[in-house]
Amino acid sequence: MTSEELLDAARVVAENAYAPYSGFRVGAIIVANDGTTYQGVNWENAAYPSGTCAEASAISAAVTAGSTALETVAVACIDAGADKESFPCGQCRQRLYEFGVKNVIVAKPDGSAEQYPLEDLLPHGFRFSDT
Ligand code: THU
Repeated sequence: MTSEELLDAARVVAENAYAPYSGFRVGAIIVANDGTTYQGVNWENAAYPSGTCAEASAISAAVTAGSTALETVAVACIDAGADKESFPCGQCRQRLYEFGVKNVIVAKPDGSAEQYPLEDLLPHGFRFSDT
């Protein structure tokens, strides 16, 4: 899939987000090294910190399927600010780093896809020094 197709797929799945508190629905598509794609959405909770980001949901889907070598993520918000780039939060950058994600696709202000190296968004991510 192209970057545009992955971003569009993230927008489609974002329709399933559960975001009654923020009103900020996010979808994520992860492409594993073997080409398999995994979907995720953010889901919130009345106890706010109990909610989960879309990227984390997609990682959960991948790991649950036995896939821990990941390549690319596309992230899209379809609500307020959707015309702006919506980059993964800091915690999700670290989560993506754990599984080897190299490329992060987000929407440019005009809605087209832009790809960044995760390395640029998270220099010196955390790993135990012996792994
Ligand atoms: N959110 C994501 O799904 N991914 C991010 O990288 C940042 C934020 C969600 C969490 C929450 O449900 C809503 O966006 C507002 O913060």
